[in-house]
Amino acid sequence: MAIASSIPALQFFFVLFVTTLARSHAQEARYHRLNFTGAVGPESVVFDNAGGGPYTGVSDGRILKWDGSANRWEEFAVLTPNRRREICDNSEDPELEAECGRPLGLQFNRATGDLYIADAYHGLLVVGPKGGVATPEVVNVEGNPLGFVDGIDINQETGMVYFTDASTVFQRKDNSMVVSTGDRTGRLISYNPITKEVKVLLRGLPFPNGVSVSKNNSFLLISQTSTLNIMRYWLEGPQLGSYEFFACVPGYPDNIQKNTAGDFWVAVAKGTMVTPGDGTVVGIKFNEESRPLEVIGDKQAGGIVSVSEVHEINGTMWIGSVDVPFLGSYTV
Ligand SMILES: *[C@@H]1O[C@H](CO)[C@@H](O)[C@H](O)[C@H]1NC(C)=O
Ligand SMILES: *[C@@H]1O[C@H](CO)[C@@H](O)[C@H](O)[C@H]1NC(C)=O
Ligand SMILES: *[C@@H]1O[C@H](CO)[C@@H](O)[C@H](O)[C@H]1NC(C)=O
Repeated sequence: MAIASSIPALQFFFVLFVTTLARSHAQEARYHRLNFTGAVGPESVVFDNAGGGPYTGVSDGRILKWDGSANRWEEFAVLTPNRRREICDNSEDPELEAECGRPLGLQFNRATGDLYIADAYHGLLVVGPKGGVATPEVVNVEGNPLGFVDGIDINQETGMVYFTDASTVFQRKDNSMVVSTGDRTGRLISYNPITKEVKVLLRGLPFPNGVSVSKNNSFLLISQTSTLNIMRYWLEGPQLGSYEFFACVPGYPDNIQKNTAGDFWVAVAKGTMVTPGDGTVVGIKFNEESRPLEVIGDKQAGGIVSVSEVHEINGTMWIGSVDVPFLGSYTV
């Protein structure tokens, strides 16, 4: 209730803020597309320790890696050994996702080079630095299969994995139902790859989606898509285990990625706010004190209004979206 009543004031603040910041944005930013041949929908974007990539998960259940020297996408990993290529490869059919896979969240463990994969249908999986067929790590929680695994991040000091299960009722192919029914069965789950212990840290959440661990690992942020806000969950210190409001978002928040400075880029789908020069808001950056620092409008993001990830690295902004047949980027 407290959160709902504070939204109008925050939205007003956003209007002021967006008006001032968006104008300062470089309009001449150059936008590039890395086209897929077949599948669509690069939800998330990661790079390996050697700067290789981007890697992304697409609609046909594969993890693809960009090969810059060959100038094309290569298959890096699949989720199950029995995935039927003749049916799955290049599929865009949501009804096939349960078989083919739909990898949504990706994150490398920097110490081991392993890639952890949050797949909407197959749970939490891991694949080694050379790729291939991924191995399931967490499939059941509290005796029930995971419903709709979505976002992921890793504490790089300890290797602890944090991921969201967006709903125990609806699958990803019915994700609009999670919003429209006001479903509150989402969970935040931790997984210790050494002890294999799985813990439900939070339950009863409204469409928990992206997760990002803070720079010093003291808290994580979770985007709650249905309620258009970001929450903070403390992992250390006097507030350990508490879950508190962090910020409102002008649209449906998706993945959260922190940059090297430790600020958080929140991807926004169906933004509710239009900037004066750059169009509909598709990304917003917050610092650790929940202060909005910068926004991206769809004009900078190739006209895409449903952005699932904004990943800032070495002066390039990578823009994921579940709707398009390419991965976009622009250099700041
Ligand atoms: C990517 O696809 C777009 C739209 O079909 C096309 O205009 C563009 O030339 C393609 N780029 C490359 C490098 O193939
Ligand atoms: C970013 O820059 C660092 C430092 O130069 C480099 O080690 C890393 O590979 C780069 N990563 C990407 C993805 O370009
Ligand atoms: C880690 O970051 C949090 C949030 O910025 C801060 O409150 C805390 O003091 C930091 N902890 C350490 C050990 O630096």
